[in-house]
Amino acid sequence: MMARRVQFTTRIGVIATTVGSAVGLGNIWRFPYEAGAHGGGAFMLCYLFFIFIIGIPVISAEFVMGRAAHSGIMGAFRYHSGNHRWDWVSYASILAAILILSFYSVVAGWTMEYTFDSVTGHLGNVADSARHAEFDSFISGWRPVWWMIAFLAINAAVLLGGVQKGIERMSNILMPLLFVILLVFCVNSLLMPAAGEGLAFLFKPDFSAITPSVVLGAMGQAFFSLSIGLGCMMTYASYFSDSTPIVKTATTTALLDTLVAVLAGIIIFPAVFSFGMQSEAGPKLVFEVLPSIFYRLPGGSVWSAMFFFLLVLASLTSTISMSEIFIAFLCDEFKIARRKATVILTLLAMVLGSLCALSFGPISDITIFGKTIFNAFDYASSNIILPIGGMVISLFVGWRLDRHTLLSQLASNGRLPSWIAPCIIISLRYIAPICILAVFLAS
Ligand code: PFF
Repeated sequence: MMARRVQFTTRIGVIATTVGSAVGLGNIWRFPYEAGAHGGGAFMLCYLFFIFIIGIPVISAEFVMGRAAHSGIMGAFRYHSGNHRWDWVSYASILAAILILSFYSVVAGWTMEYTFDSVTGHLGNVADSARHAEFDSFISGWRPVWWMIAFLAINAAVLLGGVQKGIERMSNILMPLLFVILLVFCVNSLLMPAAGEGLAFLFKPDFSAITPSVVLGAMGQAFFSLSIGLGCMMTYASYFSDSTPIVKTATTTALLDTLVAVLAGIIIFPAVFSFGMQSEAGPKLVFEVLPSIFYRLPGGSVWSAMFFFLLVLASLTSTISMSEIFIAFLCDEFKIARRKATVILTLLAMVLGSLCALSFGPISDITIFGKTIFNAFDYASSNIILPIGGMVISLFVGWRLDRHTLLSQLASNGRLPSWIAPCIIISLRYIAPICILAVFLAS
């Protein structure tokens, strides 16, 4: 008999937790910089296509596998296939989770520094024209390493608090507040002089700009942002109760996640154009633009401190979810205590995270396939491992999973409009795998 798993207590708790995983630096830091670097509207169009046509079916597929098996990714593949032949998918996803956790914690660390600098008033004293140099000098030194370590230590502390209490309670309070703050900043950005230009950049696709690298970037961003392709949502679904509606939860998660990314874009690009900044600034974009936005408002330090603090918390709900993949794997497969698994994960991420943090300065000349360590970790996980994981999960659930299990899981003890399950199955069997393969071949 399988041991009964702890379960999420409420519907709101389920949504808050899946959205908590999905919404994070991916939406507020990575989306604007990827969109900025890939031509704005063209990127946005591809991104939305991947979210709705592939993303929602793949989240649903992860939910189905995880809940039916009551297990994380490795156990779920074994349970549904009856053999160990799919173990490689789990190893790849565990690798991706570690890589993401490492570079993500570095950016979360930058966010902590900015929270701190807002509170001390330092950030407000920097002139707009000096922000670029200021940020450069910060990330090329050692301070990001200490912040990254601090962030991972907090992550570990929350994880040790257990599934329900730690994650659920925090997400419940946090997410609505973040939405409200984003809305306020949105209105502020829409009042800027070049708001129209910024919005046109983001929403008006230049079709000739849709190149294979834009499409690959958008696909990677969609997977990264939804936390799919590496069994993260699968692990969470193993804690769902039998009545949690799978398709509804998947759709709500995708909609809210996309909303946050679009809001972040609406905040950033009007400002980028109004201040005459470069939309192609890459990972630094948001950190250079946002403070200039905040400090234009009365009470700038308060806004800035609040925003960066919430971003740290949003990052935390995301890192907790990627950590769960690794921890569930160690606990389920090796019967290691949760505490020990958490310590192993944290130490490993601290070592790899240091390499990522230093790759903006002291070790910037070390490259992997022409990319710095930070960029290589990001590219390999988001643009390669997650889409491959998503493709395998779609094919597995679409073709291999027992039909009865699939349909009853999708229906979740309730009524599902009759056209929904076939649409999801068609996407899982054909559309998602073919699109992912086509993007890989083209690029
Ligand atoms: N979706 C998160 C974000 O957008 O910030 C990042 C993420 C979380 C990726 C969990 C992967 C994952 F397993």
